[in-house]
Amino acid sequence: MDDRNSTTYAAADIVNYYAQLNRLQPAEADILERLRHQLPTMKMLDMGVGGGRTAQHFAPLVQQYVGIDYSAEMVTACQKRFSTCSYATRFETADARDLSQFEDNSFDFILFSFNGIDYVSHGDRLRILQEIKRVGKQGCYFFFSSHNLQALEREMTWQKQIAPNPLKTYENLVMLGLFWLFNRPMTRQLLATSQHLIVRDESHNFRLDTYYIRAAQQVEQLSQDFSQVEIYPWQSTESIADMDAAIMGRDLWLYYLCRIETAN
Ligand SMILES: C[S@@+](CC[C@H](N)C(=O)[O-])C[C@H]1O[C@@H](n2cnc3c(N)ncnc32)[C@H](O)[C@@H]1O
Repeated sequence: MDDRNSTTYAAADIVNYYAQLNRLQPAEADILERLRHQLPTMKMLDMGVGGGRTAQHFAPLVQQYVGIDYSAEMVTACQKRFSTCSYATRFETADARDLSQFEDNSFDFILFSFNGIDYVSHGDRLRILQEIKRVGKQGCYFFFSSHNLQALEREMTWQKQIAPNPLKTYENLVMLGLFWLFNRPMTRQLLATSQHLIVRDESHNFRLDTYYIRAAQQVEQLSQDFSQVEIYPWQSTESIADMDAAIMGRDLWLYYLCRIETAN
């Protein structure tokens, strides 16, 4: 998965796509408002910064901003995009699995937006969480999004592809067929019983291997080193209080806000 994903994120068409994005997603906008009064004293690490979509919103507000990406091409695009801006930014090539260029306890706010954490294996995801815990200060906010396996399971049936417009139905069914083709020999049974799974979904025309996880499993994964976990649907500013809420099975991406556990 590693080669396919890193090759995709280095490709010119993909870099250009991310470099022209500029709006915050609703959950991100909500977090910015929630933290706004603290941001001027915060050192922020923006992981998997891509083309700098989030940098333009957060960098002017924080005390110190560092954006990293393992794609050198993305980093170059950011450096170009922000070369003449009036606020300070720093962009570096770094892999989230190895943040050795940063010292322990360096950051107050760490962002890994737009599901950037989902492009590594399960073991590497756990390494990333360890690295975040190491470079974040006690009480550091960690805000990220991830693909939701509950919603994928619900989405990948032919019944869900029926749309009022027959052409749209046809298009949806073709995509569904491609999904099952690209993910052979995966079965519905595996989709229904896995806690987390790597799949080839339609994003960037099936050019990425993507990690999907159930929300309850994600909360469990965070539980050892992070606390105060809140979950947001990516399209909403309302956090989800009830783990059984219907939206948990509908929203293909979920945002998680948590804090690095403070010592007692
Ligand atoms: C879906 S894009 C999101 C880009 C940007 N954060 C945004 O919201 O527009 C995911 C980004 O994460 C980066 N990425 C994926 N795995 C990474 C890793 N292990 N270390 C650092 N960056 C990574 C990719 O290169 C890509 O730029």
